[in-house]
Amino acid sequence: MAYVDDFPTDARIVRWNLLVAFTALGIGGLFGMIQALHRTDVFRGFVSSADYYSVLTGHGVLLALFFTIFALCGLFTWGVTKSLDRPLPSARFTMAWFGFMFVGALTATVTILGGLVPSMPFNADVLYTFYAPMQAHPAFYTGLVLFIVGTWMAGFDWFRTYWRWRGDNPGERIPLQTFMVLVTMLMWYISSAGVAVEVLFFLLPWSLGIIESVDPLLTRTLFWYFGHPVVYFWLMPAYFIWYTVLPKLAGGRLFSDPLARVVFVLFLLLSTPVGFHHQYTDPGIPEGFKFIAMTNTMFLLLPSFLTAFTVVASIEHGARQRGGSGRLSWLRKLPWDEPAFAGCALAGLMFAAGGFSGIINAGMNINYLVHNTLWVPGHFHLTVGTASALTFMAIGYWLFPQITGKRLRLRSVATVQPYIWFVGMTLMSNAMHRAGLAGIPRRTAEPQYDAVTFQGVVGGVSEMRLQIAIGGVFLFLGLMLFLLVIFATWLGGSRTAPLRVNGTLPTPLSGPEHSPKILDNLKLWTAIAIVLIVLAYGLPLSAMLADGLFAPGSPPI
Ligand code: HEM
Ligand code: CU
Repeated sequence: MAYVDDFPTDARIVRWNLLVAFTALGIGGLFGMIQALHRTDVFRGFVSSADYYSVLTGHGVLLALFFTIFALCGLFTWGVTKSLDRPLPSARFTMAWFGFMFVGALTATVTILGGLVPSMPFNADVLYTFYAPMQAHPAFYTGLVLFIVGTWMAGFDWFRTYWRWRGDNPGERIPLQTFMVLVTMLMWYISSAGVAVEVLFFLLPWSLGIIESVDPLLTRTLFWYFGHPVVYFWLMPAYFIWYTVLPKLAGGRLFSDPLARVVFVLFLLLSTPVGFHHQYTDPGIPEGFKFIAMTNTMFLLLPSFLTAFTVVASIEHGARQRGGSGRLSWLRKLPWDEPAFAGCALAGLMFAAGGFSGIINAGMNINYLVHNTLWVPGHFHLTVGTASALTFMAIGYWLFPQITGKRLRLRSVATVQPYIWFVGMTLMSNAMHRAGLAGIPRRTAEPQYDAVTFQGVVGGVSEMRLQIAIGGVFLFLGLMLFLLVIFATWLGGSRTAPLRVNGTLPTPLSGPEHSPKILDNLKLWTAIAIVLIVLAYGLPLSAMLADGLFAPGSPPI
């Protein structure tokens, strides 16, 4: 039986979430290609340089916020219902959170697109970080608030499904997929509170004219309090897939369930008290606290290394089950022609590279070299732009048949698609990293670096530009092929053909019984997470509050 037969109502909500996510991906990806061509001078016919910032805001918001989080909601709804083997309790409530998120996302998107139409009285050219003193139309902030409230309700929906399951199964270990969802959502509640305060108490009243000014340092700090954990909100659903589905796709089983739990707990503890690593160049934050943030960030590498170890061990187990042998030649036995596997594996590989450039970003002193250069988008197109995005696309090939009851169509297109993305991203991201080292800034329509300063066909700025442009076109092509396969499957397939997908997930080699029960004590981990946040943020934040709430640095009266 496919998932859609067991859980028809939940399958519908999973489909809707993924539909919105992938539509956002399509539009955002088009914007990405326009940016790559525009700023590299290859083709500037799409938008004017003034409109570039509306496009860039659309790209950031649609991809980093809406695509990722709608995809997360689809995947988590699937994971909770499947691993607890029960549907979400109330279809009406589920529709309500989806409705909040959808209306919020639509409102914010329309406001952003207003910036491209001169006659429209609204715009939101504030980029996806919406730092003051840049100001958007109130509709943009209102949309964001609705969207975030929707995600909180979604989390509640998953929690209460779990609580009901707990009522029927006292004393049992939380199934791994549900454990991952709950821990991720705890992190989200703690961290998104920061951006909610920023938007509700400062930016929205300010854009409505209720308050006259805001303190840019305070609002930036509230943003980055949320801004680092949000990157884990993008990544943890990818980890969720790599831990629980990828081993099966490789033909094996998860190496260790307890290690997976430890990793998620570490993310809950460490992903919030690091936000200052995005503010190394901000004045007004004591160096010592920046240093604490750097130290925590380096500790945060631990769960990523543990993941690399566990996931590779599980894949190797799969390859050996398929007859692989030798130190590395087992790699050849992996199903590289299976699009879901290939996409997830390539995403993981690129994530490793992104992790290394992330270590550079995190170093307080070396960060000054790359800060606000094109290096930074080079980095995060490997992480969110590939580790998350390619994993979500790839798992779509496996999940769509199960949530629609239709067999995957255009399989051969699906088979090449992850490789096209991989090639495109290798070109674009590598050239972006190099361009950043050469000092080329990010977030500008007119990076004025020409062949006079950096000469040479190879190794010069013109070569990097060309690579970014070609990479961007490849990526957009990969995206269109993906959407073609998914929509052809959804709209064109028939429900009678056998699915050829088996949705059952094998048990791990080492199960939860090999770990202490304290790992499942969510209250304890949440409490420790909050203590760490107070230590990291308490003093600097109270200094920012004490010097006046609504203006930069004004002393208290
Ligand atoms: C920024 C291209 C996919 C997230 C950029 C920039 C380019 C670009 C050239 C730099 C613009 C600038 O700083 O002036 C592309 C292309 C893509 C793609 C060609 C594929 C078709 C993605 C994906 C994500 C993503 C899948 C995330 C899921 C971002 C973010 C920014 C960005 C967050 C920063 C926006 C800002 O500075 O406000 N992209 N991108 N991109 N991209 Fe992409
Ligand atoms: Cu960060």
